[in-house]
Amino acid sequence: MLIFPFILPVFLSFAFAVPKVYLAGDSTMVATGNNDGTAGWGAFLPEFLTLPVINEAVAGRSARSFTREGRFGAIANNVTNGDFVVIEFGHNDGNPLVPVDNGRSDCSPINGTGYDTTCTTTYNGTEYVLTYTRYLTNAALLYRARGVNVIISTATTNNLWETGNFTYSANRFVQYARDAAHESSSTFVDHGQAMADAYKALGPSAVDAFYPHDHTHTSPAGAEVVAKAFVTALEYTKSKLKKYIDN
Ligand SMILES: *[C@@H]1O[C@H](CO)[C@@H](O)[C@H](O)[C@H]1NC(C)=O
Ligand SMILES: *[C@@H]1O[C@H](CO)[C@@H](O)[C@H](O)[C@H]1NC(C)=O
Ligand SMILES: *[C@@H]1O[C@H](CO)[C@@H](O)[C@H](O)[C@H]1NC(C)=O
Ligand SMILES: *[C@@H]1O[C@H](CO)[C@@H](O)[C@H](O)[C@H]1NC(C)=O
Repeated sequence: MLIFPFILPVFLSFAFAVPKVYLAGDSTMVATGNNDGTAGWGAFLPEFLTLPVINEAVAGRSARSFTREGRFGAIANNVTNGDFVVIEFGHNDGNPLVPVDNGRSDCSPINGTGYDTTCTTTYNGTEYVLTYTRYLTNAALLYRARGVNVIISTATTNNLWETGNFTYSANRFVQYARDAAHESSSTFVDHGQAMADAYKALGPSAVDAFYPHDHTHTSPAGAEVVAKAFVTALEYTKSKLKKYIDN
């Protein structure tokens, strides 16, 4: 009889361990945004979820530099079975690798080889650069091997009213992210599309006011809308994370 009080709490702590949500991304996700009074949407995600959110996003990073710096791996060392990892990149991935490699650009898929295309560049020594899709599938498979639910999300859009008229068209990273999610059996969240829908409805003056310095980084008020758009897009998926949306 004396054993029971000791066993039960241990059992309960395993049975009801609260999952965590890890975020991997760039300045549009970092709590302090671009460190100029702007904010990233990761700061506001806890408002919309009932789970703890651990924001590991770092400004200026791409799928490639997040990989090279060991940041996906560091998250992998901390996750446990049942956790969630949200991976969202694209703002810093798109420049060409030549003539000057900025250390962040990815290799572009070429016909025939597709996402397995590799490029050799010199950046702090010789580096074999992969496609955006491969960096994401590699990270996703690492997490899945640890029982983690992986969400691959499209990057935030810029201010879609900046010309005065609303314009949105998905860039190539949207398809790359969709394919990465499909190839790694991850959940695909089209965050950019949900933002576009929200921005269209809000109109130019409200949306312009979210962008105090540039067309990429939002005010805290904007970041809250961007976080809500992520949850709206999540609702369209079959992710287990939907169970933890705080309405
Ligand atoms: C992993 O957990 C340790 C210990 O809590 C913490 O110091 C470290 O910052 C965490 N790293 C990541 C990437 O979550
Ligand atoms: C790949 O194929 C598409 C359509 O088939 C074509 O438009 C594009 O130029 C090709 N790209 C390369 C790098 O060959
Ligand atoms: C350059 O590479 C060296 C050796 O791999 C590494 O220790 C160093 O941190 C790297 N520096 C940068 C800026 O990436
Ligand atoms: C916005 O759209 C209107 C009507 O379609 C057009 O007349 C105007 O030139 C557009 N303005 C800009 C800045 O593109």
